[in-house]
Amino acid sequence: MRLDKLLGEVGFGSRKTVKRLINSKQVVVDGKVVMEDNVNVDPQIQEVFVLQKKIYYQPHAYYMMNKPGGVVSAVQDKKNETVIDLIKESDRFPGLYPVGRLDKDTEGLLLITNNGNLGYQLLLPHKHVAKKYEVIVNERVTNTDREAFAEGVTFHGGIKCKPAKLTILESSDLESRVIVEISEGKFHQVKKMFLACGKKVTYLKRLSMGPIELDGNLSAGAYRPLTIEELNQLTPYF
Ligand code: URA
Repeated sequence: MRLDKLLGEVGFGSRKTVKRLINSKQVVVDGKVVMEDNVNVDPQIQEVFVLQKKIYYQPHAYYMMNKPGGVVSAVQDKKNETVIDLIKESDRFPGLYPVGRLDKDTEGLLLITNNGNLGYQLLLPHKHVAKKYEVIVNERVTNTDREAFAEGVTFHGGIKCKPAKLTILESSDLESRVIVEISEGKFHQVKKMFLACGKKVTYLKRLSMGPIELDGNLSAGAYRPLTIEELNQLTPYF
């Protein structure tokens, strides 16, 4: 990558600031002072020093996974397989972690990255990042439930949720299939919202998070890097 891009990415500021550092002979690559900002360097195999300090470059990785049921959204777990265990060793960049938590039995979209700031920004409560879930419930879901969700459900115990959108796809006395859109991330939120309406969630799958939608071609447990278009859509959270 270009030297000025590398120095920008590791925090030395704009191209102009980086150029000033280079012009003042403060940048050394493999022992030689560099005087041009457009030289290509490979920070994995070359030694780059700025202001006499060595630069460590950590490439960022961004994956979307279709989380299967039965694995935990954690980096490590003593008892259970984790979503990070599902990442091939050659793709397992240091520092990978899942952005937010899905329950062990919840399936669907999980972003996995080693960019700490992205996860932090996406999970900030005041950013109200929308999450959409497909939900199967063990009985009839009614318009009264839809109105309760729109109003903001209060959990048993008194915690009130923000208004949420409930779209009923199929509804019968034995089972209903619905879509729920929420803008917060309380622990077990969707399950507890239905519990507050006297109903039990029997299947839960996340379909989207903010601007990112689950790729329908990913089978359970599969993952792929985010595309440039998807990364561009995440720009407000970088
Ligand atoms: N709400 C839940 O109840 N569980 C999840 O895993 C995600 C949202």
